[in-house]
Amino acid sequence: MNKLLGSIIVFWMALSAFSQTQTIDQSVEELLQKMTLEEKIGQLNQYSSDWNQTGPMTINPNKQTEIKNGQIGSMLNVIGTTYTRQYQELAMQSRLKIPLLFGLDVIHGYKTTFPLPLAEAASWDLPAIELSARIAATEASAAGIHWTFAPMVDIARDPRWGRVMEGAGEDTYLGSKIAYARVKGFQGDGLGNLNSVMACAKHFAAYGAAVGGRDYNSVDMSERMLWETYLPPFKAAVDAGAATFMNSFNDINGIPATGNAYIQRDILKGKWNFQGFVVSDWGSIGEMINHGYVTDAKDAARAAITAGSDMDMESNAYRYHLAQLVAENKISIELIDDAVRRVLRKKFELGLFEDPFRYSDPDRQNAAIFNPEHAKIARDIAAKSIVLLKNEKQILPLSKETKSIAFIGPMVKLKRANHGFWAIDLKDVDSTYIVSQWEGLQNKVGKNTKLLYAKGCDIESTDKSGFAEAIKVAKKADVVIVSIGEKHNMSGEAKSRSNIGLPGVQEDLLKELQKTGKPIVVLINAGRPLVFNWTADNMSTILYTWWLGSEAGNAIADVLFGDYNPSGKLPMTFPRDEGQIPIYYNHYNTGRPAKDDQDKIYVSSYIDLPNSPKFPFGFGLSYTTFQYSDLKLSQNQMNSDEVIEVALKLSNTGKYAGAEVVQLYLKDKTGSVVRPILELKDFQKVSLAAGETKTIYFKIDKEKLSFFNQKLDWVAEPGSFELLIGASSADIRLRANFELTN
Ligand code: BGC
Repeated sequence: MNKLLGSIIVFWMALSAFSQTQTIDQSVEELLQKMTLEEKIGQLNQYSSDWNQTGPMTINPNKQTEIKNGQIGSMLNVIGTTYTRQYQELAMQSRLKIPLLFGLDVIHGYKTTFPLPLAEAASWDLPAIELSARIAATEASAAGIHWTFAPMVDIARDPRWGRVMEGAGEDTYLGSKIAYARVKGFQGDGLGNLNSVMACAKHFAAYGAAVGGRDYNSVDMSERMLWETYLPPFKAAVDAGAATFMNSFNDINGIPATGNAYIQRDILKGKWNFQGFVVSDWGSIGEMINHGYVTDAKDAARAAITAGSDMDMESNAYRYHLAQLVAENKISIELIDDAVRRVLRKKFELGLFEDPFRYSDPDRQNAAIFNPEHAKIARDIAAKSIVLLKNEKQILPLSKETKSIAFIGPMVKLKRANHGFWAIDLKDVDSTYIVSQWEGLQNKVGKNTKLLYAKGCDIESTDKSGFAEAIKVAKKADVVIVSIGEKHNMSGEAKSRSNIGLPGVQEDLLKELQKTGKPIVVLINAGRPLVFNWTADNMSTILYTWWLGSEAGNAIADVLFGDYNPSGKLPMTFPRDEGQIPIYYNHYNTGRPAKDDQDKIYVSSYIDLPNSPKFPFGFGLSYTTFQYSDLKLSQNQMNSDEVIEVALKLSNTGKYAGAEVVQLYLKDKTGSVVRPILELKDFQKVSLAAGETKTIYFKIDKEKLSFFNQKLDWVAEPGSFELLIGASSADIRLRANFELTN
């Protein structure tokens, strides 16, 4: 009886969900029938407010009129309940009262900021990453934002590219998991819930492979690399239900992504059956003229809409040319209708037709923004994002009884910089809310600890006049903490660097401080992997602290004093030198692999540089130590319907509780196309008390053994595999072999 009732309820729920989608589709059709061509085109047109420069409602009067005329479907950079309401009121004066969509780059938090996305990736903590996106969505949606232009899911193997800070690093598997988590976090329980925003997977596609790491540059890439390395995180975003995609500025093998039908129509909307809409990147439709792919804005509009770009961000190409293209039969009305349907469907799903103002809620905004609970979570994920690179003399964790600490360096007292690049314009945010590194330390230590400060030098200048004071201060202290790095806006969009060293005289300052003989802890703040060989070779204690957001100072202090035992692992390979770039752990073996860094005779190596990186992918230390043992496979052979169960023991052999990211790599020994020397295929972050041992389980199935064959079919080929379990891609602790039979 109960079972029957259960089935009836499930059936009824399925039916009502079905009829709900029916209703949205029907509503979309009904509305479409009523729309003039100009109104349809309006839905595909997105402008930015000029909020950033001059204040919210100074938008030029023509644009206000255009909104009232239904000629604009979406705005970006309209921030806060007051302004989103004011704009929406203009849209409500249009004939069909179609609400505006408000989009914004909520990249790593709205007002409560979280670590840079790359830093967060170093946590390898998927629930925490999802939660940070969830909180960003909660705050942004309360302020009237419907749509974030995130997550960026571009794989990045070139740290010269400034936008590495915005993604999840170099690895396709980790990147796909994080893409999925971030989309889920932003969209929560689904569009229509008041605290959900639409996610936007960007930049489609292959933007991270810009030649030479120079932003906006061309991408020349094999189909294999595209499918194997760059597309999977986008597919993961589709699987997670991403509502929208953004295309990219680059050309891919000669075709600009914005005008690329193969990418947008064949793959995204075809093979992957993506039902959301695609927005162009800022001006990328018009930029196809510069690419030399189209003759003028009209031609650009034709190429973009034909290729599957649904919404025009700031090119004005659709607004002024689509109608004429239809009139001249250069594009069909069906193309426009398809794009408009996709946009309207999302507006319906968000519930904007029921109440266009439903997200702009001042009370909810006040409650959500700067909610202390959000700050607590931001602090937690910031601590989880820090990577301990060296702790040779066990200087860390510091004792809270330390009598005097000198905190030296240009980053120590910075406030807003802790947000890093891509923080919402925070003009209206009281800067006391941001916890500087200095304040974090002050909050942590008791009255008996004396804190001393010296700036030492600037980040970039060559002026060494502050060294003397820094040395004086260092000499008075029991421990010296030095906070250096690259400026917060040296990574980000259009922030490519040809030299990724520590800027200015910061390393010279360290050299002088070293002469004091005091124990030194180095904090490196950056949005990318930097090259800092002298520091890495001569300093015993290094924490990579990225840019950690609102709670940076507290999180750093938590790690310094052992209230959080560092567990971060690098999501990108750190090179020894720019000459090694692009550098990534999962490369092919080549016909002449070097045995080691000394092997240079007619093998694939540099005569002036080792092949190995300075710090490998997946690397990161803890205050405790972990031992891996007892690897057991349920069987050494499997067919493609079977699963091998893997078990191993992980023991915390040190003095502190801690968490380890156990990484599972596979090597396919022979393939019909060559395979990487190893590939991450699974991981688990495991917490252990001091002295504790846990058994960890993984499963190997056909999916984990599959790859794109010569025809780019996704297949698992019979043959021998090696299983490698490690603490990083270069620190493999356990190995086993197994066979796939058929
Ligand atoms: C960036 C996008 C961003 C857009 C809107 C572009 O320059 O490439 O990632 O979403 O601007 O701000």
